[in-house]
Amino acid sequence: MKVLFYTPQSDAADWLRDLSRALPEADLREWQPGDDAPADIAIVWRPPRDMLAGRDGLRAIFNLGAGVDAILALEREHPGTLPRNAQLVRLEDTGMAQQMAEYVTHAVLRYMRRFDEYDLQQAQQRWHVLEPHPRETFTIGILGLGVLGAHVAKSLVSLGFPVRGFSRSAREIDGVVTFAGLPHDTQFDAFANGLKVLVNLLPHTPDTHGILDKRSLSKLARGAYLINIARGAHLVEQDLLDALEQGQISAATLDVFTDEPLRQHHPFWKHPRISITPHVSALTLREESVVQIAQKIVALARGERIGGIVDIARGY
Ligand code: NAP
Ligand code: GLV
Repeated sequence: MKVLFYTPQSDAADWLRDLSRALPEADLREWQPGDDAPADIAIVWRPPRDMLAGRDGLRAIFNLGAGVDAILALEREHPGTLPRNAQLVRLEDTGMAQQMAEYVTHAVLRYMRRFDEYDLQQAQQRWHVLEPHPRETFTIGILGLGVLGAHVAKSLVSLGFPVRGFSRSAREIDGVVTFAGLPHDTQFDAFANGLKVLVNLLPHTPDTHGILDKRSLSKLARGAYLINIARGAHLVEQDLLDALEQGQISAATLDVFTDEPLRQHHPFWKHPRISITPHVSALTLREESVVQIAQKIVALARGERIGGIVDIARGY
């Protein structure tokens, strides 16, 4: 079996080493510009169009992340890029759910106990006790109840927070009040109404583009908090800046941005109520990912069904 690998990141050699150990029978090579020799499987992160276009022999493309928006954007911009018979397969958890739960728990507790405000007070050498937000009314809404969102929701329930969740199809999670619908429909409004914290874990698709906008933010409780850990294109940046200015949003924790890295003079950098991390809320863990991909490749070769296959029309 011929396996083609590509990542724009600097750790390609580590991936190739671990993949060749996990798939000793495979004929594995790193894709280089101009390589159009046949391949059965591609394992990629943010591949250039030339790598995939015209490769009709490909049976599967494994994406080294949970989100497939970059690959699907290639197909939208240049229809026919994705080989007709290839299944697109994303990572399922591989250690990301726990990382997301850690990230969200940290941000939620920081806001509930008002540690963000103590940081500001410290800068002014101010000694002043603030009342914590009451946990029982600190309602958290999770947009997206998939592999990552469902795990985050369960972690927050275990800490005693009231939790709501929103997904496209109906989901049941113990202790979570769930809503099913599409962005900006009546179910979405019922989900968002009066939330103290909104956490975004949706995939980026044409349906979810710009969902964190003025309209959505206005549904939350006054002085609510926003945590965006999915994609930057979900957020209408100026709408967040306006909502912070008006006090509708108290603070935001942002891990993802429309343009990454965030450009040098972007107003988010120095905003006193915005906390920034550089797209690290859930890193792709190489060891776990190699195990999952290798198991799926073996299963496919045996003709078995695998999980994580992307529905191209749905966009995730
Ligand atoms: P997933 O398992 O596919 O779950 C997606 C969830 O979103 C599902 O509950 C789905 O509803 C819901 N959904 C999708 N489109 C919707 C729509 N139009 N309206 C309402 N709900 C919708 O994905 P995942 O593995 O949890 O990952 C989620 C996203 O996290 C990824 O796509 C990626 O963008 C992001 N991510 C970010 C990082 C980071 O480091 N910042 C790391 C990993 C992933 P159904 O349940 O009905 O299908
Ligand atoms: C990272 O952003 C991912 O989609 O896995």
